[in-house]
Amino acid sequence: MKTRTLPSGAEMPIIGLGTWTLKGKDGTDAVATALELGYRHIDTALAYDNHRAVAAGIRRSGVPRDEIFVVSKVPRENLRYEEVLAAAERSLEELDTDYLDLFLIHWPNPSIPMRETFTALAEVRDKGWVRDIGVSNFDVGHLEEALEVTTVPIANDQVLYHPQRNQERLRQYCEERDITVTSYSPLGKGEFTNERSLRRLGERHGRTPAQLILKWLIDKDVIVIPRSTSREHLAENLDIFGWELDDEARQTLDSMEGS
Ligand SMILES: NC(=O)c1ccc[n+]([C@@H]2O[C@H](COP(=O)([O-])OP(=O)(O)OC[C@H]3O[C@@H](n4cnc5c(N)ncnc54)[C@H](OP(=O)(O)O)[C@@H]3O)[C@@H](O)[C@H]2O)c1
Repeated sequence: MKTRTLPSGAEMPIIGLGTWTLKGKDGTDAVATALELGYRHIDTALAYDNHRAVAAGIRRSGVPRDEIFVVSKVPRENLRYEEVLAAAERSLEELDTDYLDLFLIHWPNPSIPMRETFTALAEVRDKGWVRDIGVSNFDVGHLEEALEVTTVPIANDQVLYHPQRNQERLRQYCEERDITVTSYSPLGKGEFTNERSLRRLGERHGRTPAQLILKWLIDKDVIVIPRSTSREHLAENLDIFGWELDDEARQTLDSMEGS
């Protein structure tokens, strides 16, 4: 499995399972199935209200905790110092784990000073509760402000990133500063898996639209976290290694923005 190295030295798998909307049994089943198929990275958030379901899926899979990369996020309403510490502690308890691999600010909140939030994140990291810290939904302006105030490296920015929301400028900005980028909603919440031009292209290459999109992203070293409740789709989305996109496919995907 291809990985990205984070500031702590941890290896973040380039593909993970997204779990937004997957609560209760759906969440547990998806996590257990994904781990059984070979996924080793799970993306969740306090706002998804599914930590306990995710933990149950991890337990059911039998995969050791230290082989799984677990990401969670602190909601934008809870970015005060004490609230960030409480959110991290609650995440550990609900996820039934001693540490998170990555803990993100879910959304920027202009009404709370970033310095306060990053001071709390540094504390959470120093306590050993999280290995790395990062952000989500931060554009270049937010990152510039964050980099001014943080005392610990920002490991990751998780943003909307797919063929019609091409984040090339943000990706380059992050790459120059050793910040990894994760694409959320890589499949446009499923919308692109039926897109006509991608279906035609996929048929010619013996690949599905989902595979073409995920491959296009990981080729840019962008981490992907597609969500699925279907074993077939989970397996299909993981089958993006050991083959290459040709120029035609890459150019089609590069030029889909605004189409
Ligand atoms: N940081 C943030 O603010 C933020 C915001 C949104 C999302 N996220 C994260 O990103 C993850 C992924 O984004 P997302 O959940 O919005 O949507 P997505 O992964 O782009 O799309 C999920 C949809 O695609 C379908 N699907 C998956 N694989 C498929 C395949 N191979 N063929 C056909 N359909 C397929 C799924 O249906 P089936 O179940 O039928 O497969 C599901 O309806 C989230 O779950 C969450 O963890 C983060």
